Amino acid sequence: MVFFIHLFLLCVTARFIHVHAQIQTGYISIDCGSQENFNYVDLDTGISYTSDGSFVNTGINKNISSEYAYPNNLYLPQPLSDLRSFPQGDKNCYTLRPNGGKSSLNLIRATFMYGNYDGENKLPEFDLYLGVHLWLSVKFKNSSDVVTTEIISVALEDTFSVCLVNVGLGVPFISGLELRPLDGSIYKTDTKKFVPLVLFERFDIGYTNGSGRYSSDVYDRIWSPYNSPSWDSLRTSIDIDTSGDGYRAPNEVMQTGSTPKNGTESLEFSWSVSDPKARFYIYLYFADLVVLRRNQTREFNVSWNEFQLFGSVRPRAYYASTFYNLRPLVGNEHNISIKKSGSANVPPILNAIEIYRVLESSELATFSRDVDAVENIRTTYKINRNWVGDPCGPKNYSWEGIICNYTNSNPPRIIFMNLSASDLTGQIAASIANLSSLETLDLSNNSLTGPIPDFLEKLSLLKLLDLRGNQLSGYIPKSLLERSRTGLLKLSVDSRNLCDSGSCKNKSKKKILIPIIASLLSLLVVLLPLIIFWRIKRKQKSSKESSNEEVRSIESNNKQFTYAEVANMTNNFQTAIGKGGFGSVYLGTLKNGKQVAVKLLSESSSQGYNEFQNEAELLMRVHHRNLASFVGYSHDNNRMALVYEYMANGNLKSYISEMRLKIAIDAAQGLEYLHHGCRPAIIHRDVKSANILLSENLDAKIADFGLSKGLPDDQTTHILTDVIGTAGYLDPEYRRSHNLNEKSDVYSFGIVLLELITGRPAIIKSMDHIHIMQYVGHYLKKGEITSVIDEQMGGDFNLESVSKAIEISVACTRAMSTQRVTMSEVLTGLKVCLEMEMTRGPRNQANHVVQKMVGLQMDHSPDICSMDFELMTDPSGR
Ligand SMILES: *[C@@H]1O[C@H](CO)[C@@H](O)[C@H](O)[C@H]1NC(C)=O
Ligand SMILES: *[C@@H]1O[C@H](CO)[C@@H](O)[C@H](O)[C@H]1NC(C)=O
Ligand SMILES: *[C@@H]1O[C@H](CO)[C@@H](O)[C@H](O)[C@H]1NC(C)=O
Ligand SMILES: *[C@@H]1O[C@H](CO)[C@@H](O)[C@H](O)[C@H]1NC(C)=O
Ligand SMILES: *[C@@H]1O[C@H](CO)[C@@H](O)[C@H](O)[C@H]1NC(C)=O
Ligand SMILES: *[C@@H]1O[C@H](CO)[C@@H](O)[C@H](O)[C@H]1NC(C)=O
Ligand SMILES: *[C@@H]1O[C@H](CO)[C@@H](O)[C@H](O)[C@H]1NC(C)=O
Ligand SMILES: *[C@@H]1O[C@H](CO)[C@@H](O)[C@H](O)[C@H]1NC(C)=O
Ligand SMILES: *[C@@H]1O[C@H](CO)[C@@H](O)[C@H](O)[C@H]1NC(C)=O
Ligand SMILES: *[C@@H]1O[C@H](CO)[C@@H](O)[C@H](O)[C@H]1NC(C)=O
Repeated sequence: MVFFIHLFLLCVTARFIHVHAQIQTGYISIDCGSQENFNYVDLDTGISYTSDGSFVNTGINKNISSEYAYPNNLYLPQPLSDLRSFPQGDKNCYTLRPNGGKSSLNLIRATFMYGNYDGENKLPEFDLYLGVHLWLSVKFKNSSDVVTTEIISVALEDTFSVCLVNVGLGVPFISGLELRPLDGSIYKTDTKKFVPLVLFERFDIGYTNGSGRYSSDVYDRIWSPYNSPSWDSLRTSIDIDTSGDGYRAPNEVMQTGSTPKNGTESLEFSWSVSDPKARFYIYLYFADLVVLRRNQTREFNVSWNEFQLFGSVRPRAYYASTFYNLRPLVGNEHNISIKKSGSANVPPILNAIEIYRVLESSELATFSRDVDAVENIRTTYKINRNWVGDPCGPKNYSWEGIICNYTNSNPPRIIFMNLSASDLTGQIAASIANLSSLETLDLSNNSLTGPIPDFLEKLSLLKLLDLRGNQLSGYIPKSLLERSRTGLLKLSVDSRNLCDSGSCKNKSKKKILIPIIASLLSLLVVLLPLIIFWRIKRKQKSSKESSNEEVRSIESNNKQFTYAEVANMTNNFQTAIGKGGFGSVYLGTLKNGKQVAVKLLSESSSQGYNEFQNEAELLMRVHHRNLASFVGYSHDNNRMALVYEYMANGNLKSYISEMRLKIAIDAAQGLEYLHHGCRPAIIHRDVKSANILLSENLDAKIADFGLSKGLPDDQTTHILTDVIGTAGYLDPEYRRSHNLNEKSDVYSFGIVLLELITGRPAIIKSMDHIHIMQYVGHYLKKGEITSVIDEQMGGDFNLESVSKAIEISVACTRAMSTQRVTMSEVLTGLKVCLEMEMTRGPRNQANHVVQKMVGLQMDHSPDICSMDFELMTDPSGR
């Protein structure tokens, strides 16, 4: 005899008559859509239901229409009288927290009945997911159709997410949701990793009058009664021992069974599905319900599609045993045959059967570190978005503002997070740095405060970082700046964030600087002229413009070279053209034929790294025709090189006796820009003639920003630092107080100006190492101004102009920084000097430069201002 279980057999939901006082340890029983905080015991089942408030944050409660409700529908289970619908959002999820926690095995059941709750009389279709796995596409036959589905799954995390996804065919809803903890040893599958099993059929064989749901079933399974007309049903009232294994089918189910009416026939049943790759597991429950005589034998073999699954099964009387296949049954047609074996003389028996289909899903849950990070971000900022379930999955239903990278075999990774205008407050959360695949991070237009944290540097794949519209302060971390410079990162910040991060932030770095500078100072003696041509590249029309709070991206066209390219362009560092504190400078040629100077950080001077980096960063940020610009840099295997265009005419040191005023003006303009054009202001800290470079056209440029420092903000007028600089040029007040402000540069510039006028170095070795200010002061005291003027000018100079220049240098080098002039005033004064010179008319060509520089016009009354000779007698830097 053969019977067929039809596909999509409906579960029978019968009216339960008995109230069971059930042990419901670990049960989660949600009557979805019931009034808030409404807990009740269902009179039919004895199960305690709760409302869904603590399991879901979205959705609205609805009652089914009265037509389908009690008393019009006397047998409607109470949980189905209301439901929760989700008109908003594509994905809404319940979060269930099983008692057993992570790795526990649980059965989850979801129930749906439409009942025309919305009055539309239109049956919706939607998808039900467990985590990222499509569990069931929910469809209804009519408004009173009850769809019930069960899944058995191991908890991969502390919680299960049961999600309803709107597929555009109506608003999803749910009527009931239940979780039952299972014994972890049952419902085994062959794979090491447990695969979720969706219930296909569960039958209580041989009895048609049961409720299907029994208090003796510790797992609260629903058993559909079934019997075939060709089967005889057997019943016993004797208790069945179900303690033999963990499956524990309830007594009521095991007390009934069926045997074929024709004793020579088998018990057969079959089912089919459309998917030929569908995988099934079956669980067969046997118990003999009679005590056989001595000469009787009940023995049978179970086969699937002619393939024997279990041989010589002999069920014991009143004792339950469970048989299941170790390998999945794969295919779309499945015939199970229970046939008595050769030695049997009584027909086979079957008491119950469960058929489960493996949930096939190629979807993987999001990379767990990403999940942890984004959960942390959600709770930290109390993000008011429907961020539920898996952040990336299912595909196409990632969290709002999150985009993921889905690869076939690896868990999805979060690569994009847009939290723009999300009312974020407080600091930038550290957990963001754990989203290590992040490529785009938009935190703009929030109320974030505090610094831009260093930990953002960990996001090595970040291509876009938008922090505009926040109240962030402080400095941009170095590596972010560096990546922004090299074009790897599009960094958008409010311009007030801009700061020279290298030096204002990290106190520990400064401590290292002292020994470096000590050795640097000795090396400076052998510092050869850097020969660099300065390209005029003036991007910002007016430096003042950058002071308004405009928003601007730091981007750069400067090129990053590999070490190999650097080696190549310098012909393997063949021609050294200079040597500095941090390494040597080599002549090189770019592919386009342009000559360059390559400043290479020597491997031995690892301490110089910070200053090197500092210079690279500064060069990136400042553009002025009187400041050094550069071609690019190399940072390869910790070997750093800066590439400048080649300067044909050496530095000021080598031109000290020839170029004068124009050079002074050029240099002053560069410094003026640093002090007053940059926000925040930048203090060069190492102004000296060796750091003023000359182009072919004898344009002077300030170079060597290795020691430069930004003032933290507009309000700050000085900062405390360790004293660094070059002997002879070093501001004595700064040296004493460690209070750094831009007047220290003014002092140094005053020394350079004196060098220009006198043709003498800052420290005059030939005169017993006296300082240039002692030298000048000596003559000025005696009123012998002409004696200090460089002899190379051959007496052909404008005394007024020279006097004015001396006056300026004195005003620059006053002992108290507050009494010193600013670079703007210096610039104005020097321009006056130049004007005086220009009014003298044409000169002979040979003397042109010299005359232009420091001319002498005897007919002008010497307007030598009140010079502060006393203050010039205490030279510094010795
Ligand atoms: C559903 O019905 C119950 C009982 O009749 C009532 O208290 C509740 O307010 C109704 N809920 C909704 C959302 O209409
Ligand atoms: C709804 O569909 C179910 C299953 O097909 C059926 O048993 C029931 O009679 C139908 N009810 C109505 C009111 O059509
Ligand atoms: C079915 O169950 C009801 C109530 O338990 C009982 O009254 C009735 O006799 C049963 N019918 C059969 C055929 O067992
Ligand atoms: C029982 O089944 C066998 C084999 O199918 C058949 O030959 C026999 O006639 C059947 N007996 C009855 C009573 O139907
Ligand atoms: C088994 O033994 C009983 C008597 O104890 C006898 O009536 C019956 O025919 C025997 N059955 C078989 C199949 O041998
Ligand atoms: C299953 O049984 C049916 C009916 O007996 C038969 O037509 C079909 O070929 C069988 N399928 C397999 C795979 O054995
Ligand atoms: C039943 O299974 C046993 C054990 O595997 C085997 O020896 C026997 O031949 C099988 N009988 C039939 C009828 O297939
Ligand atoms: C995701 O969306 C794309 C395009 O809208 C579609 O082709 C694809 O099938 C969707 N994937 C899933 C898993 O829904
Ligand atoms: C996604 O991940 C793969 C593998 O890691 C990588 O090759 C690909 O570039 C990534 N795609 C994006 C858009 O990040
Ligand atoms: C983030 O979202 C905002 C508002 O929806 C949008 O204006 C902005 O362009 C988005 N950012 C990115 C990087 O896509």
